[in-house]
Amino acid sequence: MPVTLKDLYFETRKTLQDGGVDNVDNIARDFIKHNIDVADIDIIISSEREILSSTVKDVQEGLKRRLDGEPVSRIFGENEFWGIPFKVTPDVLDPRVDTEIIVDAAIKKFIGDPPEAVLDLGTGSGCLIISLLTEWPKAQGVGVDVCKKALAVAGENARINKIEKRLKLVQSNWGDSVKGKFDVIVSNPPYIANHEMPNLPKEVKNYDPILALSGGEDGLNCYRLIIKEIKNLLKRDGVCFFEVGFSQADDVTRLVEDSGLSVDAIHPDTAGIPRVVEISFGEK
Ligand SMILES: C[S@@+](CC[C@H](N)C(=O)[O-])C[C@H]1O[C@@H](n2cnc3c(N)ncnc32)[C@H](O)[C@@H]1O
Repeated sequence: MPVTLKDLYFETRKTLQDGGVDNVDNIARDFIKHNIDVADIDIIISSEREILSSTVKDVQEGLKRRLDGEPVSRIFGENEFWGIPFKVTPDVLDPRVDTEIIVDAAIKKFIGDPPEAVLDLGTGSGCLIISLLTEWPKAQGVGVDVCKKALAVAGENARINKIEKRLKLVQSNWGDSVKGKFDVIVSNPPYIANHEMPNLPKEVKNYDPILALSGGEDGLNCYRLIIKEIKNLLKRDGVCFFEVGFSQADDVTRLVEDSGLSVDAIHPDTAGIPRVVEISFGEK
């Protein structure tokens, strides 16, 4: 018996439901749309359309990976951040919704007076700097990562989002190879403490690169290194935004203030957890 679009949709939903996955309607539709060129509405109006057995097999293989714990974005190799598309590979952190707090805070800070030069330390997929460059069409950006493969992904994402002419990607140990001064510096560095690494959920531990996660003994190593470089890289009236992990805002604030810089605001995430530390020379 040929498999129809309706059969495939209901089978996909059932497999997800039996596997204890939440939000099955949306995920089932996403699996179908990823494998067949259809819109949501086609799943209803073209429900009798016949589906190739190779497509059914592809959907089933994807579902198996999902039920084994792999995030949907890893299976599809793409995710959305700040409403725009990003390719993701095993070499980059899967962009997280909490990280959008940096973009939101930076945009609000520069309303009416957009910055010219933006630096992203630890760019990964490029989600932060690419989102900011799409919001500030005259700005130029530099995205830094120590991982060459991550930079290749960021380059592809810059092309997908048509900002590649305004983004320079540099392989560097934090700011070591970066020249110039910036109006805005953003960073979401690795911040998981060594003792927390074994307890991470398996969809993080098994799929995000360790280089994007591990922040050393107390999780603060990368902040210590980056904060030392901020004074050389930030313009006197510039602003820097760091994402911080759960319960790290006070420790990062102390590191910033010990370096002579000023913490001007701490922005919470949607759960009310302090998530982004806003830093300047404190001269405004
Ligand atoms: C938590 S991920 C953030 C990626 C991306 N900015 C985001 O928010 O999704 C941290 C990134 O820092 C990079 N990184 C780790 N150590 C680094 C170093 N010493 N110098 C530059 N980048 C580094 C990792 O490769 C990774 O891409």
